[in-house]
Amino acid sequence: MNIRTTKTFNNGVEIPMLGLGVFRSPNGQETVDAVRWAVQAGYRHIDTASLYANEESVGRGVRECGVPRKQLFVTTKLWTDDMRKDEALQAFERSRSLLGMEYVDLYLLHWPVAGAIRPCWKKLEQLYKAGLVRAIGVSNFQPHHLDELLADASVPPAVNQVECHPRLSQVPLANYCAGHGIALETWSPLGGIRGDLMDDLTLKGIGAKYGKSIAQVILRWDLQRGLVTIPKSVHKDRIEENGDLYDFELNGPDMKAIDALNVNRRFGADPDDFPF
Ligand SMILES: NC(=O)c1ccc[n+]([C@@H]2O[C@H](COP(=O)([O-])OP(=O)(O)OC[C@H]3O[C@@H](n4cnc5c(N)ncnc54)[C@H](OP(=O)(O)O)[C@@H]3O)[C@@H](O)[C@H]2O)c1
Repeated sequence: MNIRTTKTFNNGVEIPMLGLGVFRSPNGQETVDAVRWAVQAGYRHIDTASLYANEESVGRGVRECGVPRKQLFVTTKLWTDDMRKDEALQAFERSRSLLGMEYVDLYLLHWPVAGAIRPCWKKLEQLYKAGLVRAIGVSNFQPHHLDELLADASVPPAVNQVECHPRLSQVPLANYCAGHGIALETWSPLGGIRGDLMDDLTLKGIGAKYGKSIAQVILRWDLQRGLVTIPKSVHKDRIEENGDLYDFELNGPDMKAIDALNVNRRFGADPDDFPF
């Protein structure tokens, strides 16, 4: 199976299939190093958010990594407080200034805040049309949130970034997104800090067959499903391990065995009932 290393959005922009997540990576040298190590290991995509309070370090990492900005893909996100205040343009300018970048590759509505989806999407469309972002999208949207947004969008979302891992494989949502030309991106692909996947015996057994770790098996499963994936680590060895996915291929029965681990279980918040 020839794995693509990028996915083409509905507006023609390409996103690298593998990105470094930086949720809970502290602002400062730890995140600067994580970004540099990821780029050295071949990653070309970093996923941050204003909530993570580390955009400044992501920007430094990008400037210090030795690869030109144009060859890298940087995502950031509009937080819920700014959505409620209808301050998308101001929040974007803050993020852009902290990142120290002329443009951002992808800007997302971080959560589907009731009553704020349509007005905020108009602002993201404005940023897109002004050339300040190469693509706009959403995160944590269920089909009904996307229906609401699509009803009066002039630019459709390029991507929906959602919790997705072997306990929550998101097949119905992935089908909805595929049917609407929206790329699906997986957050907490390894189960995040509350997951139980790193002890799963099925995944361990599959990994042993290929000489790969549980993390590598999960991330390869994402790639073979055609999903963009953004594992987080601040450790050089793990960042390298999570990027080393291209010298093996999961066979059909192993893909199905991982699919069968789905129990529709969230480790993170529910997009229809979140307290922030
Ligand atoms: N849009 C949203 O609402 C949303 C929500 C959550 C996350 N995200 C994005 O998705 C990214 C990934 O999700 P996540 O950070 O929640 O969880 P994750 O990537 O599933 O898991 C990260 C955890 O796994 C550990 N880890 C990483 N590689 C490992 C390996 N090879 N072996 C064992 N443990 C490993 C990390 O520890 P160390 O760092 O100590 O190595 C960290 O504790 C985030 O960083 C963020 O960019 C988006």
